[in-house]
Amino acid sequence: MGIVTGGDLEHMRESGRIVRKALEEMKSLIAAGMSTKELEMVGRRVIEAEGAIPSFLGYNGYPAAVCVSINSEVVHGIPSTSRMISEGDLVSIDVGAFKNGFHGDAADTVVVGLADPRAMLLVRTAYEARDRGIAAARAGSTLGDVGAAIQDAVEAQGFSVVRALVGHGIGRKLHEPPQVPNFGRAGKGMKLTEGLAIAVEPMVNIGDFRVNTMDDNWTIVTADGSLSAHAEHTIVVSGSEPLILTA
Ligand code: MF3
Ligand code: CO
Repeated sequence: MGIVTGGDLEHMRESGRIVRKALEEMKSLIAAGMSTKELEMVGRRVIEAEGAIPSFLGYNGYPAAVCVSINSEVVHGIPSTSRMISEGDLVSIDVGAFKNGFHGDAADTVVVGLADPRAMLLVRTAYEARDRGIAAARAGSTLGDVGAAIQDAVEAQGFSVVRALVGHGIGRKLHEPPQVPNFGRAGKGMKLTEGLAIAVEPMVNIGDFRVNTMDDNWTIVTADGSLSAHAEHTIVVSGSEPLILTA
């Protein structure tokens, strides 16, 4: 369980800062015609220049420093020199950084160039759902409160929330207990306590919530081929507003 206190919190802040810097650099340079590998290298350079290590590289054999997932790809897209980003693509970028013994993890989704209004609403909803989940995460509330807040925000727009993948505790390891589902019932599940570090990361589909894994054994795609958006922050629970380490 990622309970952080004192100096550990400063290390978590530092990893979170680096994750944010990498994401912003990637978002500022993303453009149609760029390969997902080129985009990965932008993020990787920032992480390494900050004296950190990409958390995902080699994690369970994952072969890249960041995940880039386009359109119906939900998460864990592997960057490739042959995968080009096109005008109108919905691109989710997921970054993790490890420094001083602690991880940070965050994801943003952007639409490249001119987007379909429904794709824009999907992206806005993913951020809104994440932020509602974060707002529900305080000492004394439960994992069910967080999941229900996320699920309500998503379903209010007629979209669906992925069930097969969840958020997670984070700290000395990228993935620690507890699992943080993006669905649930208010009042149910584990009680949150001050200092608990978690990654809150809803994956939101325009269509059905079901997903499949592609032949590369990593890329998760929507089963119905519909668009999907992903938004993630690393946070630390407190007695009042949570600390958002990747803002
Ligand atoms: N944010 C994602 C997660 O927490 C990224 C993991 S990619 C992996 O699962 F390669 F590290 F698995
Ligand atoms: Co994560």
